[in-house]
Amino acid sequence: MSLVKFIDFKVMGDHRGNLISLEGNKNIPFDIKRVYYIFDNIADVERGFHAHHNLKQVVICMHGECTFVLDNGITREEVVLNSKTQGLYIEDFIWREMKAFSPEAVLMVLASEHYDENDYIRNYEEFKRLKNDSSIK
Ligand code: TYD
Repeated sequence: MSLVKFIDFKVMGDHRGNLISLEGNKNIPFDIKRVYYIFDNIADVERGFHAHHNLKQVVICMHGECTFVLDNGITREEVVLNSKTQGLYIEDFIWREMKAFSPEAVLMVLASEHYDENDYIRNYEEFKRLKNDSSIK
């Protein structure tokens, strides 16, 4: 099964333009506790390089584009985000990297938990070890 899970949002368009509504536990598969956004990216800078113990996220590219690398410790997949009408759903225990940001890229991230540095796994070898040690992940 692919690591890349997109949620297609319903676009409520009319003669005035388009509108998308995001609601926790409706079209977003968790309670939204936090929203953050990434912008003013510096050329060729890569971000991410971590996984999370518990956090689930939906990432929407509101403007421009960027590339996500998703890795479950066994397989690694790349996907370009460039649509306002789709969210990339990243579950817990998935290693993510972000790269190839276009200068105008704006990424909005909806998160299932408040910010908690203790939830981060920032070392790839530790991530793989935790994955292998866990019978359920
Ligand atoms: P980080 O998650 O490492 O960024 P990325 O995954 O995009 O590379 O976060 C960068 C910094 O911002 C780090 O010092 C933690 C801080 N931060 C918060 O304080 N709150 C937040 O909600 C997030 C996502 C990050």
